[in-house]
Amino acid sequence: MKGLVIPAVKAEVEVQELATPIPEQNEVLVKLKAASLNRRDYWITQGLYPKIVTPVVLGSDGAGTIESIGNDNETRWKTSDEVVIYPATNWGVQESAQSDDFEVLGMPQNGTFAEYVTVAIDQLFPKPTYLSWAETASIPVAGITAYRAAMVQGKLQSGQTVLITGIGGGVAVFALQLALAMKATVYVTSSKESKIEQAKALGAKGGYLYTRPEWGKECLKEAGPIDVIIDGAGGKGYGDLVSLLKPGGHLVNYGSTAGKPEKLDLFKIFWRQLHLVGSTLGSPADFGNLLKFMTDHQLRPIVDLIHPLDKGPEAIAAMRDAEQFGKVTLEI
Ligand SMILES: NC(=O)c1ccc[n+]([C@@H]2O[C@H](COP(=O)([O-])OP(=O)(O)OC[C@H]3O[C@@H](n4cnc5c(N)ncnc54)[C@H](OP(=O)(O)O)[C@@H]3O)[C@@H](O)[C@H]2O)c1
Repeated sequence: MKGLVIPAVKAEVEVQELATPIPEQNEVLVKLKAASLNRRDYWITQGLYPKIVTPVVLGSDGAGTIESIGNDNETRWKTSDEVVIYPATNWGVQESAQSDDFEVLGMPQNGTFAEYVTVAIDQLFPKPTYLSWAETASIPVAGITAYRAAMVQGKLQSGQTVLITGIGGGVAVFALQLALAMKATVYVTSSKESKIEQAKALGAKGGYLYTRPEWGKECLKEAGPIDVIIDGAGGKGYGDLVSLLKPGGHLVNYGSTAGKPEKLDLFKIFWRQLHLVGSTLGSPADFGNLLKFMTDHQLRPIVDLIHPLDKGPEAIAAMRDAEQFGKVTLEI
């Protein structure tokens, strides 16, 4: 089979001919129809991820059909069933946080940027029938991260005011769609006017260029204090987000694309009873709830680019340049 491999840390990714994996007990072999990229894949190619193991097939997001089922497995699944893959293993028994053995698919285990992947049976969920393969493959990491950040950690309620930072990101666009489906009033930030306009076309009420120092003041004036902020950037601007929250509001962070925060006004945080929460991916239960929520609201992931698997290196470069609005995908 063909697979997009990173041969060594910081080496160029390349399409290689690989042995098709064989599913073991409690595993299935999935014939992938589409996969999608996340910033994690790019971080790994840059050596900017903990405990990188190479060579490895990258890719956490995938959807396809069941090709074969490991021996001695009793399962409701059968060959040809159409599935989307929960992008991790070993969440563990607590809903509040993952176990120490938690692993994201696509390093150290071979991932979805390939013609086939083996996954555990309990990673399989039925493909939403109303979505294309590229749309379905866009769901796992971005969708579950947005769902847990907004609904579980952010405790988003219908009618609240929400601010989503860096709207060009895959997770951020999902968060926008989920918040709009919750009938929230949504504001966004971006480095580009064009992305703010795209967000408004989807239903955002307004947007601000985070590159302008005065954007926070403009946001407070227009939007008023915010109930829930969903942030994947961190960096210097993280501390300033605290000033935009309502008393008792939630600032949920799921990433640090812009690096470490520099300062935090603890007085504002304790006096205004703010919740500063972290969020990572989500549990299998969150994934099931996300798929149900999407189906109930007929939400379609925003797919910006579709590349063939052979153009995987170009797709990784697109993640580096962050020109996209929504998801970069691979058709397999
Ligand atoms: N904890 C988890 O489970 C989890 C899961 C998924 C992702 N993540 C992390 O979350 C982050 C986003 O992931 P993604 O896959 O959505 O990436 P992505 O699609 O590549 O999005 C990155 C976006 O970050 C925005 N950005 C960059 N600098 C910013 C700044 N100073 N302030 C605000 N926004 C800024 C940009 O938005 P504009 O283009 O609009 O300027 C850019 O498009 C990454 O750090 C990733 O590692 C964490």
